[in-house]
Amino acid sequence: MSRRSIVAGNWKMNLDCAKAAELAQAVAGRHAEAGNVELVLCPPTAYLTTVGTALGLVHATSPSGVALGGQNMHDKSSGAFTGEVAPPMLVDVGCRFVILGHSERRTLFGETDGIVNAKTKAALAAGLTPIVCVGETLEEREANRTQAVVTTQINDSLAGLTPADVAKIVIAYEPVWAIGTGKVASPQQAQEVHALIRGLLASLASPAIADSVRIQYGGSVKPDNAAELAAQPDIDGALVGGASLKADDFLGIARAFA
Ligand code: PGA
Repeated sequence: MSRRSIVAGNWKMNLDCAKAAELAQAVAGRHAEAGNVELVLCPPTAYLTTVGTALGLVHATSPSGVALGGQNMHDKSSGAFTGEVAPPMLVDVGCRFVILGHSERRTLFGETDGIVNAKTKAALAAGLTPIVCVGETLEEREANRTQAVVTTQINDSLAGLTPADVAKIVIAYEPVWAIGTGKVASPQQAQEVHALIRGLLASLASPAIADSVRIQYGGSVKPDNAAELAAQPDIDGALVGGASLKADDFLGIARAFA
């Protein structure tokens, strides 16, 4: 099965309104450079509408060929949850994707696999494609616990999903020690975990569905290391932090997956 690669930019809590619009326009104007690669921009919540407008989004359609995504969301549709954003709100401003369970959410904001599971179900119910993030810390890798940690994260974050739901998600494998550190996993280290994840998806859904799910690598992906990652059989794209803040770098990474 040939999977369409997907490269997403996680802008985290960076940029300002004008710079967000400028970056979105630059990526949208040059998206053809990425060929058939699906491109997603995930700006801060405050700039979703600005970026959506810059991308020319009309609700969930994307004439520019670049999709919009949130970086997080609540699992409820509305209510007294001060400071949160609801899944239908993301849809309303043109999002088709949402990053869930990023390691910064897990580490700094106490998100457990149970919370990620509730959010994943809520995203799917709202019609969003969740990008579910997993990955081990350096301590866990050094203790040879990578496989056990990732297995638990996948099984618990996706618990109770139907095979049809599993077919709709994107997974991002992001070793925590590689995020924002400049230390990228070797292509072999990444491939090994991607293959493990695909095996877990086969058990949760079916081998055919596992074969169709895109699994991104994330953690210090740059234009100069993207090609060797892209060459691995189970790496289907990238979730890019720092390098997604420059159109040249983001598109350079996307081209490696084309
Ligand atoms: P990085 O971040 O590319 O800056 O390492 C990746 C991420 O956190 O998604």
